[in-house]
Amino acid sequence: MAFTIAVDGPAASGKGTISKALARELGFAHLDTGLLYRAVGRKVLDGVDPLEAAQALLAEDLENDALRTPEVAQAASKVAVLGDVRAALVDFQRAFARRAGGAVLDGRDIGTVICPEAEVKLFVTASAEVRAERRFRELSEKGIETSFDEVLADVRARDERDMGRAEAPLKPAEDAVHIDTSRLDVDAAFQAALAAVREKQEAQS
Ligand code: DC
Repeated sequence: MAFTIAVDGPAASGKGTISKALARELGFAHLDTGLLYRAVGRKVLDGVDPLEAAQALLAEDLENDALRTPEVAQAASKVAVLGDVRAALVDFQRAFARRAGGAVLDGRDIGTVICPEAEVKLFVTASAEVRAERRFRELSEKGIETSFDEVLADVRARDERDMGRAEAPLKPAEDAVHIDTSRLDVDAAFQAALAAVREKQEAQS
C-alpha cells in the first residue's frame, strides 16, 4: 500500500535526519530530493546546460559525497529556480512517493507541489542561527574550512532564494504539522514527527 510522508523545510532544519529516522522506523523508502537539485547544480558548475543535466540525471549521480559542499548547495538553489528544471524532476519524485510499501520524501515543495495528497505532511523549521551553527559544525567535522558568519550568510541567501522564487517556493502546506527543532534534540524531533505519523495511521485504520 502507498503511504507518503512529505517533509519540507529550510536548509539544516533537521528534516533530513527526521526523514531518515522515520524511514528506518517504519520500513519506508527515503528520497532526499535536495540531492536531485544538487546533482544538477554540480553538472552546471562543470558547464552542462541545466535542463540537459536534469533530463539526463541518473540514480548513480545522487551517490556522490561531492554534492555536500556549500558551493554545490548554492548551485542547487540557483538551478531550483528554473521551472523547466523542476518540471523535468517531477515524474521521478511522484513515482517514488507512491511506491508500494511507503515513502518519505524530504525537500522544499513535497507537500505543496510534488505530493499534495501525501498522508502526512511535516514542516520542519529552526532559527537561521541554530541552522547555521549545525551546518558549521558538520562542515568543520568534514574538514571543510569556513566560518560561522560565512555559513550564516549562506543559509540566509538560500532561504531567501528558496522562499522567494515564483516556482514551487518553500512554504508549509496548509495541513502540515509544524515542528520547530531549535530547542529539540534529535530524538525529541523524531518523536514529534513519529507522533504525527502514528496519529494519521490510527485514523486510517
Ligand atoms: O535540501 P538541500 O539543502 O540539499 O537542497 C539544496 C537546494 O535544492 C535547496 O537550496 C533548494 C533546492 N531544492 C528544491 O528547490 N526543492 C526540493 N524539493 C529540494 C531542494
